[in-house]
Amino acid sequence: MKINIKLTTKVIAVILPILLFAISLGSCGVKEEYGIGPVKEEMKLEPINDKMVARGKEIFDVKCIACHKFDVRLVGPPLKDVTKRRRPEWIMNQILNPIEMTQKDQTSKELFAQYLVQMTFQDVSHPDARALLEYFRAVDENKVTP
Ligand code: HEC
Repeated sequence: MKINIKLTTKVIAVILPILLFAISLGSCGVKEEYGIGPVKEEMKLEPINDKMVARGKEIFDVKCIACHKFDVRLVGPPLKDVTKRRRPEWIMNQILNPIEMTQKDQTSKELFAQYLVQMTFQDVSHPDARALLEYFRAVDENKVTP
């Protein structure tokens, strides 16, 4: 069988750049899903840390519970399965930088349009935001009940 080398080369020459372009677009998309805020690098999550979960629940029950429940809408969205619909980086940025998020991040903007209340910064430190994320992970994996 004679393979038409010229044609094959041409086809590769056309397809390869398109493929590379598509891949680069794809990775941009992932970056956007990080949201806008102090967390800019991909987070590597370890197995759930119970101490952090307990700390996260403590903070949640003081600083977030007035506006959020897990199962139903309150002032803000129900938070059950938030770790399944958003990236951890996005959740951290929403907690640490909510005002800029609702102004510039597409997903957060849409939530603001739907809930019509601005989530405000609750004076949460970076480690506290991380503990809150751990609490949400534990709730979503049914390891704790809120
Ligand atoms: C004043 C009410 C209020 C408080 C307090 C508040 N939030 Fe929010 N939250 C909202 C609203 C409203 C939204 C939707 C975005 C918007 O309109 O700002 C939201 C959105 C979110 C989201 C995104 C939910 C989704 O479905 O993607 C997360 C996560 C979140 N809040 C976590 C927290 C945490 C953690 C705290 C406590 C540190 C907190 N919020 C405190 C009102 C609040």
